[in-house]
Amino acid sequence: MDMIIRNGELITGQDRFVADIGIRDGKIQQVGRNLPASSGAEEIDAEGMYVMPGGIDVHVHLELPFCGTVSNDDFVTGTRAAAAGGVTTVIDFATQPRGGSMLQAIAARKAAADGRVAVDYSLHCCITDWDRAEPEMDQAVAEGVTTFKMFMVYKSEGWQADDPTLLQGLEATRRNGARIMVHAENDDLIQLLTRRYLNQPLPGAWGHALSRPDYTEAEAVSRAIRWAEVTGGRLYVVHLSTAAGAEEVTRARARKVDVLAETCPQYLMLDDELFKQENGHYYATCPQLRKPADQARLWEGLARDHLQAVATDTCTFDTRQKDMWNGDFRRIPFGLPGVETMLPLMHTYGVLAGRFSLDRLVQLTSVNPAKIFGMYPDKGSLAVGTDADIVVFNPRTEKTISWKDMETNCDWSPYEGLPVTGWPQVTISRGRVVAREGRFTGAEGWGRFLRRKPWGTLD
Ligand code: URP
Ligand code: ZN
Ligand code: ZN
Repeated sequence: MDMIIRNGELITGQDRFVADIGIRDGKIQQVGRNLPASSGAEEIDAEGMYVMPGGIDVHVHLELPFCGTVSNDDFVTGTRAAAAGGVTTVIDFATQPRGGSMLQAIAARKAAADGRVAVDYSLHCCITDWDRAEPEMDQAVAEGVTTFKMFMVYKSEGWQADDPTLLQGLEATRRNGARIMVHAENDDLIQLLTRRYLNQPLPGAWGHALSRPDYTEAEAVSRAIRWAEVTGGRLYVVHLSTAAGAEEVTRARARKVDVLAETCPQYLMLDDELFKQENGHYYATCPQLRKPADQARLWEGLARDHLQAVATDTCTFDTRQKDMWNGDFRRIPFGLPGVETMLPLMHTYGVLAGRFSLDRLVQLTSVNPAKIFGMYPDKGSLAVGTDADIVVFNPRTEKTISWKDMETNCDWSPYEGLPVTGWPQVTISRGRVVAREGRFTGAEGWGRFLRRKPWGTLD
């Protein structure tokens, strides 16, 4: 063995039991009680700790050119932050330029990430132009990019996928086993409401909230679901933020539409009153933060399997970047940091608050993402023969969240000052320790590109 993790409580998402884990050549080699010592093997004492499959964040935007700037956590700092937060796999996005090649966009994004990422990563591809994307889709799937994001918004960025694009993309998934991830907001209505509220005397960032009421999300969710239903296609709703949207997903799943959904810590933990604060514009993200009733419905949805995954939509902008808005809510760089705090927040405010079980935490942040996104069981599992991506989680560590203690390249945190109980003690990526007690100890370039399989599902 190269490493033995002793006496931890293994939390697989299905079972809980105390055991040792022996690791060799980056793989889990043995799971059992009292594994014999092995000469030269590093021993990790996990007595009193949870030993879980490493966290998987299927939604990050590292060094994304967006809103007139570039998101400030790059492939280096963003994956250091992931490791420190117990996340051993991230999935970022390549964006097809309008009229351009998806395969070239994927190759360029890989070139930007390879040699710099500290944990394993994969890519989704954002489709902006169906006529150019369609002939390349099967090739992208064959190369391990098996999920495709479509934005129902961001027309002005040139990113919007219109209804025919969405419908045809969903049709293709029936044949090639890909899945369409949809950013569901109604762009035309948001533009109308933006114009309506722009010239009114408003408390700054509050205009962001007024211009994106919950129905702008729920309508788009229901439309995307309708296209999935009529085509029999495979759909995943990203960053679901509203109770009304959760109702649409819940109803569709009850009638057996193939739709899965994620929500993010920001929609569970924060509400739109924050936009009224002096620095309210820091919190601007798309979709926007919502109301306490939406938060309650999303927590319930996670517990009751109406929603299947938690991801962060990490898209970091520091205070200098956020301040570029100059009082105009249309110009705020949209996005928040989050990959580093996902597990502690979900443990504290999900498990310890009694909203869902420890098993469910592991399902939502590791097992389900691995299955849905075609990485299971290499990722998301503690079974013998799988990648030794493991987080040893200390459920008793008490911390107050502060950006000053974290690896993210951000000079503020949406969760600043929030108390949490439980933090990753040791993060292991393919058998190598990459973080201890919230500090990165790994190496730039350790992470590898993951070719994912099609037909990922929870069924
Ligand atoms: O505001 C956000 N979420 N920025 C990242 C891009 C996106 O829509 O996911
Ligand atoms: Zn989005
Ligand atoms: Zn996103």
